[in-house]
Amino acid sequence: MSDSPLVVAIDGPAASGKSSTAHWVAERLGYRHVDSGALYRALTLLATREAGPSDGWTGERLAALADRVRLDAVPGGFEPTIDGAPAGDGIRGAEVTRCVSLVAQMPAVRGWVNARVREAAEGRSVVVDGRDIGTVVFPEAPLKIFLVADPWERARRRLVQRLGRRPADAEIAEETERLVQRDAKDATQTVQAKDAILLDTTYLTQAEQVDRIVALTRALERGVSPEADPA
Ligand code: DC
Repeated sequence: MSDSPLVVAIDGPAASGKSSTAHWVAERLGYRHVDSGALYRALTLLATREAGPSDGWTGERLAALADRVRLDAVPGGFEPTIDGAPAGDGIRGAEVTRCVSLVAQMPAVRGWVNARVREAAEGRSVVVDGRDIGTVVFPEAPLKIFLVADPWERARRRLVQRLGRRPADAEIAEETERLVQRDAKDATQTVQAKDAILLDTTYLTQAEQVDRIVALTRALERGVSPEADPA
C-alpha cells in the first residue's frame, strides 16, 4: 500500500449508487468514507426545523446554522451531527430531499461543506462521494470515478431499496420523472472531471462496480495510473 493518503472521488447524479458504492469501496480498502451529500442534507434538516419556510432561506441564514452541524468520525467513516447528536435518517426524508437542491446552490453553503469534507480527509485515505468532488473539492485526486446509469434503472433500484419489493412499471415511471427533475435542479453542480473514469452501471451489479473501483485503487497504490489500467 502506498504511504501517502489517497483520495478516491466518486461523483454522479442522484440515485446512481454513489454513496453505497463509496461506502463499500472504503470498507474493502480500509479507507474512510465521506458522504458530502449527507452534510448538505443535515444542514437542510436543521433549516426545515428552524429557518421557517424554505422560500425565505438565504445563504447568510443557512451559514449561521451551519456552526451546529459537524461531520464526526465513526468507524469506517463520518456521520453528520446536529448539536452533537447524530442527524439520523431524517436527512433522507421527503422534505429534506425536496429542499436540499436549493441549499446546495448557495455558495456560502458549498464553501462550508467543502471545508468540512477537506478537514475529514486530512492525513488519511478516503473515498469521497458527491457531485463536484473531482472538479472542485479534490481536483488533484488521483482517482476520479463518474458513476452514471440509465434513469429508469436508477429509479427502479431506488424503489426496490425503498419498498423492499419489485416495483410496478407505473411506479418506476413516476419515480423516473422525479429523478429527472432532480437531475435538472442539480445539473450545475454535477460535473464530470475531464480526467474522471466514466462508469456506466446500468448493466453492472453493485458488487461489480465495487470490484472495478477497488481494482483501480489497488493499481494506483502500486503506482499504476488509472489511464494505464482501465476497468
Ligand atoms: O447525493 P445526495 O442526494 O445525498 O445529495 C443531496 C443534495 O446535495 C443534492 O441536491 C445534490 C447536492 N450535492 C452537491 O451539490 N454537491 C455534493 N458534493 C454533494 C451533494
